[in-house]
Amino acid sequence: MAGKIVVLTGAGLSAESGLGTFRDEDGLWAQHRIEDVATPQGFARDPGLVHDFYNSRRQQASGAQPNAAHAALARLQQDWPADVVIVTQNVDGLHEKAGARAIHMHGRLDGALCHACGARWPAPARMAPQDPCPDCRSPATRPDVVWFGEMPYHMDEIALHLQACTLFAAIGTSGQVYPAAGFVQEAAYAGAETVELNLNATDISAAFDHHLIGPATRIVPAWVDRLLAAAG
Ligand code: OAD
Repeated sequence: MAGKIVVLTGAGLSAESGLGTFRDEDGLWAQHRIEDVATPQGFARDPGLVHDFYNSRRQQASGAQPNAAHAALARLQQDWPADVVIVTQNVDGLHEKAGARAIHMHGRLDGALCHACGARWPAPARMAPQDPCPDCRSPATRPDVVWFGEMPYHMDEIALHLQACTLFAAIGTSGQVYPAAGFVQEAAYAGAETVELNLNATDISAAFDHHLIGPATRIVPAWVDRLLAAAG
């Protein structure tokens, strides 16, 4: 019987949509220091630099189109006879543009957050340090993304899905950032079969039962076709 599937996605899924990954050669972390642009301390030191980094990523993401792998996951979510939960570390909106629903554990580029009062609203194309919060008027607005040293979003809900899934897949993620890198173990403890889909082996490949190697636009649609065919 078809059971719940949890799919964890990372930057490799959006690579063929033209969005850079973090740790591949020429990735974002080869061009920017994590501590400058992706930590609360970096934001406190130089909010303008951090806003510029996310303004440019927001602009790239808004012009990007979902690829065949995003489309295949949307199809799986629609046609699989049980629940398909997509948990993404990506802050682009490409799952939604492809017609899927996703849990954004690292937040979203199209969201803004006030760190004075906690209000959330849709991010404008460009954010700046002096922007006032629409609720409390503090000039304390930031992108609604999770930085290193902060707790990812929706962790309780994700844990419940991992405990209840029968198949766990990780797609286009290097397995270097926790807690997402530990999801494969949580799912395996719960008895799920596990599969890694990636261009290369990763640091955590040994934790998976199965491996599909290749570009996401090729291997994800083929994997989804096989799953749906087996489900009848
Ligand atoms: P990484 O850049 O760490 O890893 C990208 C993974 O995608 C690598 O394992 C690549 O082999 C794989 N990959 C690249 N191109 C691919 C393709 N066309 N098809 C399939 N796989 C491909 O990105 P993430 O694992 O997503 O967090 O990074 C996790 C987190 O670290 C991010 O959410 C971000 C980052 O620092 C924060 O900013 C908090």
